[in-house]
Amino acid sequence: MDKAGYHRDTWAEIDLEAIRHNVEEIKNHLKDKEVFAVVKADAYGHGEVEVAQAALEAGATTLAVSILDEAIRLREHFSNVPILVMGWTNPEYADIAAQNNITLTAFQTDWVHQANEHLTDQDLSIHLKVDTGMGRIGIRSVEEAYDVIRACDRTNIFITGVFTHFATADEPDFKYYHQQLGAFKQWLKQVKPHLPDSITVHIGNSAASMRFPNDMYDGVRFGISMYGLYPSKHVKEEQTILLKPAFALYSRLIHVKKIQKGDAISYGATYRASEDEWIGTIPIGYGDGWIRKLQSINVLINGQKHPIVGRICMDQCMIKLDQSYDVGTRVTLIGCEQNATVSMDDVADHLETINYEIPCMLGKRIPRYYINM
Ligand SMILES: Cc1ncc(COP(=O)(O)O)c(C=O)c1O
Repeated sequence: MDKAGYHRDTWAEIDLEAIRHNVEEIKNHLKDKEVFAVVKADAYGHGEVEVAQAALEAGATTLAVSILDEAIRLREHFSNVPILVMGWTNPEYADIAAQNNITLTAFQTDWVHQANEHLTDQDLSIHLKVDTGMGRIGIRSVEEAYDVIRACDRTNIFITGVFTHFATADEPDFKYYHQQLGAFKQWLKQVKPHLPDSITVHIGNSAASMRFPNDMYDGVRFGISMYGLYPSKHVKEEQTILLKPAFALYSRLIHVKKIQKGDAISYGATYRASEDEWIGTIPIGYGDGWIRKLQSINVLINGQKHPIVGRICMDQCMIKLDQSYDVGTRVTLIGCEQNATVSMDDVADHLETINYEIPCMLGKRIPRYYINM
């Protein structure tokens, strides 16, 4: 994390005890299966190194990321932990992965040939990705799998794992999930005899691992719920396991004033006071990922909800206060205060998106501080 933003009154607090709790919960739920901690995209905006450390302490065994650079950064901190890149990596970089003992994802014969040309003295471990219905990346047939397996013959590329990814595991209707699972089982039955006995099979994300623990083969790739967030409202209602959210977002009032009835607030003068009102300013805006569509969402002061009024600026926004507060008073944008909560889900609902997107979009200018390390 670069240091931009450490001298400011807006910050995120990441509770590493919550991360550990969530990993332990899924481990108990899954009994003896492996947990891959999904820490791509800077651990969904929570901070990759700190989250990875907490997840490993709680019993996760592998770190899963999306791109090679994420894996290389983690390798600098975790010299012996298995690291899997789940996305497509240009085969030109196969040797960098091999030298760093990083496992890549593969599903194309040409990729195997090209990667092999780039390898020098180290073996490369790969996991085969099977597309059973996500339609993103992966082998779609048994024949394609045989071709990739054959391409690995007499190379220094070794298949150590096989995986697929579900498109609808978080939805109320299980039909498509079962269709994908059935397709995977069929595929694996035919392909497994051609693979080493020791391969690791992992198919589940958070939703599948919570809802269908018995389908999960050797391990799960646990992402959103490691951060204490449920992948959907349906999964949240089921409460299969009790998660603790890890991310809170705070700011402080940096200016407080009384305005008169009819006075305007912010660009466009779109907000007009309907009576004399107290207005507070906080130093966060769309330059931090606190985007303009968050206008009118509530924030918490002293456990009370107060709405953001007027357009959100790049670096600041204004709040309608119920009374005067001191400059320096803490404002909770995401988190709990006394008996009130503004959750990540509330912010996602306001933006008509999913909770995954929110911590990812809160930029590096917001420093992440860690508690319960
Ligand atoms: C291939 C793959 N596996 C696992 C995950 C983790 O999913 P979730 O965050 O829903 O647990 C992701 C996340 O998008 C993914 O792309």
